[in-house]
Amino acid sequence: HLIPPTHNVTVVRPHISVTPEEREAVLRAVEYNVFAFPAALVTCDFLSDSGAAAMTDVQWAAMLRGDESYGRNAGYYCLLDAFRDILERPENLRERLFRDVMAGTADAAMYLATFLQPHSGGFVNGGPVQLIRPNFFIVPQGRCAEALLFSTMADAIRTNPTVQPPIIISNGFFDTTGANASAAGFELHTFTQPGLTDPFPLERVRKENPFRGNFDVAAATAFLSDPANASRTTLVLLTITNNWAAGQPVSMANIEAVAALARAHGMPVFFDACRFAENAAFIKKFEPRYRDASIATVVTDMFRHADGFTISLKKDGVVNMGGALSFRDKGVFATRFGPGIGVRLKERQVAMYGNDSYGAMSGRDLMAAAAGLYQGTQDTYLEGRLEQVCNFAQRLEKKGIPVLLPPGGSAVFLDMDRFFAGCGRSHADFPAVGFTLELLREHGIRTWEAGPFSWEWDKKTTQEERDRIPNLVRLAVPRNAMTDQHFEYTAEAISRLHKKRHTIPGARITRGADLRMRHFQSGLEP
Ligand code: F0G
Repeated sequence: HLIPPTHNVTVVRPHISVTPEEREAVLRAVEYNVFAFPAALVTCDFLSDSGAAAMTDVQWAAMLRGDESYGRNAGYYCLLDAFRDILERPENLRERLFRDVMAGTADAAMYLATFLQPHSGGFVNGGPVQLIRPNFFIVPQGRCAEALLFSTMADAIRTNPTVQPPIIISNGFFDTTGANASAAGFELHTFTQPGLTDPFPLERVRKENPFRGNFDVAAATAFLSDPANASRTTLVLLTITNNWAAGQPVSMANIEAVAALARAHGMPVFFDACRFAENAAFIKKFEPRYRDASIATVVTDMFRHADGFTISLKKDGVVNMGGALSFRDKGVFATRFGPGIGVRLKERQVAMYGNDSYGAMSGRDLMAAAAGLYQGTQDTYLEGRLEQVCNFAQRLEKKGIPVLLPPGGSAVFLDMDRFFAGCGRSHADFPAVGFTLELLREHGIRTWEAGPFSWEWDKKTTQEERDRIPNLVRLAVPRNAMTDQHFEYTAEAISRLHKKRHTIPGARITRGADLRMRHFQSGLEP
């Protein structure tokens, strides 16, 4: 059906005009590292969808309703209620506290009722239970939740030593997730469904979705059938949507199968839930049994299968900052790591990020996040969001640009093997990086190479590891921030570069090739 626009623009930031020569001079000065390029000189910024959202008027209003008290600001209660509301939907909540705080009518009885909720057994224990058995932790962003989780798990394991480092398995580790888990001593194994770049005809993208973000259950089952692997595997991490696999969604059927596999081995399942709402929208759109369900139902059904989650609110929380870590009260995770794991997480949270009621966030930001969670899980908003990204991908495809179809929810990915087909390019020359530099220099469009350079192709020692690295460029679409003009301009600019692809130089690393997560740090030149 015809999908109507979902919002109006109320605040505008005009661009300054910049020439390609000026951008070239700046690029040289920042060692051709796109992350170091000043945003003010970019016309279309597709570097990330993280924290780059335009907030709604309700979110800005919510910021004014937040307070900055050191202990238990209003945003703390609203955020915890928002998570309960969205993940578990207890009948007595339904945005009550948030609405009352916004309207200025929240009275003492309201706070008392909120605090005294007996709620336990879920992801956000009620007030008194949260004090005794903490299971929900506010942090500034997703990677802090990862660091908190993995370092505390590693401590718990150390007191119960195993011969080799324990294993975490996943459908795809985001770069910081992998880095945090490795730094804590975990061994990582990725089981991404094969066929990420397989062709998919344009006329099918609105009717079907192959859920290419899925966890490869068959491969993981084979892996776990070796008792030496099974006994060392401590956690299944399901990334939804799967940023490592081109932002592709994970189906409910796959979530169920992963949960069953984990249960059979007595292991907890954690979601890397950054884009849980967009994932739910894909399930609703493409999994027949959810066609008539609401997003609210899909989300609660998804989280039924999780024992815990980390989340960066900078994505589907539609805010500029924020994150959280949670595990199910008395669930598999608590059983496996001991009843005191929540207290140890809280100690570390307080030491690193501050009191549990703010976790290095301002009270204003917590209110904006609560509003963002409520608004960002609305069916109409999510339908419009998926439509915008899908339209962008189709625009590119129609101009003959090799784009991964169907697109994920937060970004469009260019297939750079096909883009440079016939040009005799080797991964070692990082031609996709060269393309991102040319696109930024000539047209002021910032994108990110998610391929051999960023995923360290040259450091892999086996051909099998090298073959698993996709050669992509990501155009992440910030939420609520762009118009059709951005997409048309970008599609046309990329089309022009595609026509002269033989002339686009590759890139050479001039400094920091061996640094961890080098795409943020190293120097390059065309
Ligand atoms: N997990 C996933 C799947 C992510 O995509 C990100 C961030 C994180 C964890 C970390 O969250 O940034 O709040 O610390 N992804 C951003 C991106 C940076 O551009 O894809 P964070």
